[in-house]
Amino acid sequence: MSDLRKTSVQDLLRSQDLDREVLVKGWVRTRRGNKYVQFIALNDGSGFHSIQVVANAEQFPEDKLRAEGVENGAAIAVRGKLVASQGKGQAVEIQADEITVYGSADPAVYPLQKKGHSLEFLREIAHLRPRTNTFGAILRIRHAMAFAVHQYFNDHGFYYVHTPIVTGSDAEGAGQMFRVTTLPDQNAPLTEDKSGVDYTQDFFGKQTNLTVSGQLEAEVAAMALGKVYTFGPTFRAENSNTARHLAEFWMIEPEVAFNDLQDNMDLAEDFLKSLVRYALAHCEDDLKFLNEQYDKELLTRLQFVVDNDFQRLTYTEAVEILKVAKQKFEFPVDWGTDLQSEHERYLVEKHFKKPVILTDYPKDIKAFYMKLNDDGQTVRAMDVLFPGIGEIIGGSQREEDLTKLKDRMAAMHVPEHELWWYLELRQYGTAPHAGFGLGFERLILFITGMANIRDVIPFPRFPGSAEF
Ligand code: 4AD
Ligand code: MG
Repeated sequence: MSDLRKTSVQDLLRSQDLDREVLVKGWVRTRRGNKYVQFIALNDGSGFHSIQVVANAEQFPEDKLRAEGVENGAAIAVRGKLVASQGKGQAVEIQADEITVYGSADPAVYPLQKKGHSLEFLREIAHLRPRTNTFGAILRIRHAMAFAVHQYFNDHGFYYVHTPIVTGSDAEGAGQMFRVTTLPDQNAPLTEDKSGVDYTQDFFGKQTNLTVSGQLEAEVAAMALGKVYTFGPTFRAENSNTARHLAEFWMIEPEVAFNDLQDNMDLAEDFLKSLVRYALAHCEDDLKFLNEQYDKELLTRLQFVVDNDFQRLTYTEAVEILKVAKQKFEFPVDWGTDLQSEHERYLVEKHFKKPVILTDYPKDIKAFYMKLNDDGQTVRAMDVLFPGIGEIIGGSQREEDLTKLKDRMAAMHVPEHELWWYLELRQYGTAPHAGFGLGFERLILFITGMANIRDVIPFPRFPGSAEF
């Protein structure tokens, strides 16, 4: 193919520079036509749209294309002329001069058929679903959102810190962790009194797990760099088979020295709005497709979040509202119990009809590190609740008082010896500080309008599933 350099489909579709020779490489989405002309929709993933390749049947008769494997799913290169399109639906197209097949895909067995497939079926072929319109769009949006996260924090003077994946402590104190060990399955060394496995002989000389949150280490960095964030994979071994939970998900956790709960809410709201604004500005083709295909309210809902203030109220006020709600809930609401997704969504979707930030939850249903209010009953927690999602952010002002923190840890059975370094942050130059965690996949659920969290991460991990 001479020494012509390849161009991306995205660049060609935007090109004003017509009637020139181009080289493009990608996968055949569809091939159709008649005995005069064949049309190939070629997609290389660079953007939502495919480019139309027009193959004159004199040079490329259908039989020949078929014999060479130019069928759905085949990887090909096309050399030809970029011209203004004769047809509707595209500004430019390529008149093919030469087609090279890298790899064909036998139409008799290729799992992706023209007719389209259910999201459930596509989950079973996670290695091929990125080639569909839907997953191409989702994966590009995921990328754009990750980029927007870093851009937001960089623009606002935050430093990105890498917190560990393997950890000896349970940040949330919920005990739903995956163990990390190199001890043998059988005949693992036992402690002297034979009561359990002797982890002092394990790789790290202690029991270790995959992290559930980078927060505690982010606090370390915030106490030195002021404004920091971590963005990494987190793991939870909770047996939640829901459309909102994954066993492996990504979390964005900013942590800011000298911020109180008010500052924390302001940051969360500004951050979320800026991410949605970024998606609207940069993911137009992909969002338009998802809006048409899956959720006609998607674009309106995204714009609504950008345009409206989030409703802020306390947990106690929310419980009052829920108690007199006309809706019948599966789980009863009483002060002191954790709110279920049905309650959160009632507040957001029915009562306030906008995003909600709930604060000052009862101390017993929140983590040990949250700052105790003067009432001795509630903590400076905040959850941001979104339409269609429920909780998208969880965060708090942190307890900076050493004595009070130790009291909370004792009450919640969090061992002090495991977190001696965390306690020392309160011993040496302690300061008020606050932060939160945004679940990246919950954000992507909201941005894409998809209904199941397993459809917004390339390779979902959930109970019973780690195939790919
Ligand atoms: O509310 P969570 O558990 O808070 C923390 O982990 C804090 N350490 C964060 C912090 O203050 N730095 O989790 C934070 C968010 C949730 O609001 C939710 O969006 C997401 O993480 N999340 C999950 N996403 C997918 N699957 C799961 N199993 C999730 N659990 C939490
Ligand atoms: Mg939470």
